[in-house]
Amino acid sequence: MLRTVICDLLGIQHPVFQGGMAHVGTAELVSAVSNAGGLGIIGCGYYEADWVRNQIGLTKQKTAKPFGINVPLTSPHTKEVIDVILREGVAIITTGAADPRPYIPSFKQAGMKIIPVISTVSAAKHMEEAGVDALVAEGMESAGHIGEITTMALIPQVVDAVKIPVIAAGGIADGRGLAAALALGARGIQMGTRFVCSTECIAHQRYKQKILEADDHATTVTGQTTGLPLRALKNSLTEQYAALEQAGITKEELNLFGEGRMYLGLIEGDTEEGSLLAGQIAGMINDIKPVKNIIDEVIAQAEKIIDSLRDYKGR
Ligand SMILES: Cc1cc2nc3c(=O)[nH]c(=O)nc-3n(C[C@H](O)[C@H](O)[C@H](O)COP(=O)(O)O)c2cc1C
Repeated sequence: MLRTVICDLLGIQHPVFQGGMAHVGTAELVSAVSNAGGLGIIGCGYYEADWVRNQIGLTKQKTAKPFGINVPLTSPHTKEVIDVILREGVAIITTGAADPRPYIPSFKQAGMKIIPVISTVSAAKHMEEAGVDALVAEGMESAGHIGEITTMALIPQVVDAVKIPVIAAGGIADGRGLAAALALGARGIQMGTRFVCSTECIAHQRYKQKILEADDHATTVTGQTTGLPLRALKNSLTEQYAALEQAGITKEELNLFGEGRMYLGLIEGDTEEGSLLAGQIAGMINDIKPVKNIIDEVIAQAEKIIDSLRDYKGR
């Protein structure tokens, strides 16, 4: 059975994380991933502390296995959300969007494992110096807010720069991606878009269907002018947003225009006016299936590839 140091560090069976995902990374998906031997991660998004407390409670009811929580540190509710997480005793936290260093002492005091999401080598080094336990290194193929470097180029550079385990994210949706990530020196993978197209994910059916219909060119990146680039499926919203960016409207006006669009797309299923976050690998995802099947197939395929490469003779 394919195991790595990250399995021992976190007490999980498979080196597979479900990325913390705003709106859709809820107890249903998180518990299914953890019960299947991966690491489910609650996505706090910009939800208030009460919502987060409720999701932690629901997840604990649905699984006795380890699970994590993701906090985008730019949330206006960050402080209250972190207080809830500390009080509820969640064992693993992934952070994004801002520097987690101010919070690290309290996470450590609570005995939590801290795993920031980073997209540059310099951020990886700073995080390691700050004493975090592992890193998710996310390439720009990913869904959602992204950096500038591809997974293929980022992972080996981060692996060379730090001693702590690195989890590869961005553009991974099957066992080939897991085997490739391990070959690049990662100790596990994090998938987002693949898990949206699972039976258990609460994402709207029309959004899931758009991912199934996507080809390799289906996503685009908006928000370059605001300093917060975001990858999503192309639709009327991304066209309008790009036009507004080109017209040079202010960051505040853009933020106002974008407000509520994720909920509209991901949960209400408005596939034209809502934001449909998805990574470039969406073009390869052709079915909706139970989380357990996704994880078992990823592991079995990676094991087969790793075995077959031993006898590889360039055929
Ligand atoms: C709907 C959706 C919402 C996301 N929200 C977040 C988030 O709130 N915080 C975060 O760190 N990453 C977020 N992500 C990124 C994922 O956690 C994951 O790292 C990424 O999807 C990996 O790339 P992939 O989609 O190519 O698998 C989101 C992704 C999706 C699809």
